[in-house]
Amino acid sequence: MALKVSRRGVIPPFIVMDVLRAANRRQAEGKDVLHLELGQPASGAPAGVIETAHKKLESDQLGYTEAFGIMSVRQRISEYYAAEQSVSVDPEQIVLTTGSSGGFVLAFTAAFDVGDRVAIADPGYPGSRNILLGLGIEPVLVPTGPETRFQPTPELLDKIDGPLDGLIVASPSNPTGTMLGESELGALSEYCRDRGVRLISDEIYHGITYENPGVSALRFDDEAIVINSFSKYFSMTGWRVGWMVVPTALSRSIECLAQNLFISAPTLSQYGAGAAFDCTEELDANVERYAQNREILLKGLPTAGFDQLAPVDGAFYIYADISNLTNDSESFCRRVLDDTGVATTPGTDFDQGRGSSFIRFSFSGATNQITEAVERLQHWMTKTG
Ligand SMILES: Cc1ncc(COP(=O)(O)O)c(C=O)c1O
Repeated sequence: MALKVSRRGVIPPFIVMDVLRAANRRQAEGKDVLHLELGQPASGAPAGVIETAHKKLESDQLGYTEAFGIMSVRQRISEYYAAEQSVSVDPEQIVLTTGSSGGFVLAFTAAFDVGDRVAIADPGYPGSRNILLGLGIEPVLVPTGPETRFQPTPELLDKIDGPLDGLIVASPSNPTGTMLGESELGALSEYCRDRGVRLISDEIYHGITYENPGVSALRFDDEAIVINSFSKYFSMTGWRVGWMVVPTALSRSIECLAQNLFISAPTLSQYGAGAAFDCTEELDANVERYAQNREILLKGLPTAGFDQLAPVDGAFYIYADISNLTNDSESFCRRVLDDTGVATTPGTDFDQGRGSSFIRFSFSGATNQITEAVERLQHWMTKTG
């Protein structure tokens, strides 16, 4: 007799990881791949982080830390908020996590019960939606489009049937790169406060912006949970370290969950993260590279037939409406990979319905790869269509 499989565990895949597997297979066959699928900086961690990690490996036993993480690193994060957002954050409210992904698990578990309803923009980051599902929380998808820069608004939230327990926003967003300005985030925060809805603000692309800097929800709402990470601006994806700022009312509950679920974030990575704040020169040079890549794509993609692009305010993604080319983005991406070696992500990863006519280009990679990818796409489009 077949044994029971939990319904909670049956969640959609993270399609970009499936694309990565196909791309790696192609590489193993000796064919080349230009990686415009993954949102992963081409650079590794900055030199100062590596140096600190080497020293700690030699000198430190690297045992567990307290569940919320090393206090000196949390203090450093508090200084970052004072400098970047002019807000004062008590280091006691700062939690080091196993990437922001670990932060989501802690935040959602502490803030919501099974069956609660949490609104989230569609298209949006699949991890947030799928972690909610895995925890038995109902993601309430808010369809967004270019009219609102693919971001939720109080008017769109008003159209939702039934009560809401939470709202997740991401600015800059993945996959669209669009941002919420001060007034938009302020209005959403007020909407949430007035209705007893918990705001969760994913700020992991702060630092990678092209026009205006990212605005933190901490400026408006001390009941919001703010999620951040060392993966993107700080270029430390594989170190698996991020942080959260949590309201005092949830602090003990999050601490108990963290103690039991993770004990602590990886200690070596925590030390590295503390050093990352002193590496801004190197990290800002990475952002310069993303800005160059962004220009190359914004100029080159329209000439290859991809001319309906979301405004790229930040992050390193371009979300393209390809309804003029296909209504099956998954097979379109497979064809592009097979024919040109350019790996991209189908919009269905981010929006299970309308995503079939969208595609996401990531420009976190090396500039020569981006230039080459544009040339191949232009050539392919002239040949095929
Ligand atoms: C919007 C968003 N949030 C969270 C994450 C998770 O990142 P990490 O767990 O590496 O911090 C990602 C990863 O791409 C993302 O795009």
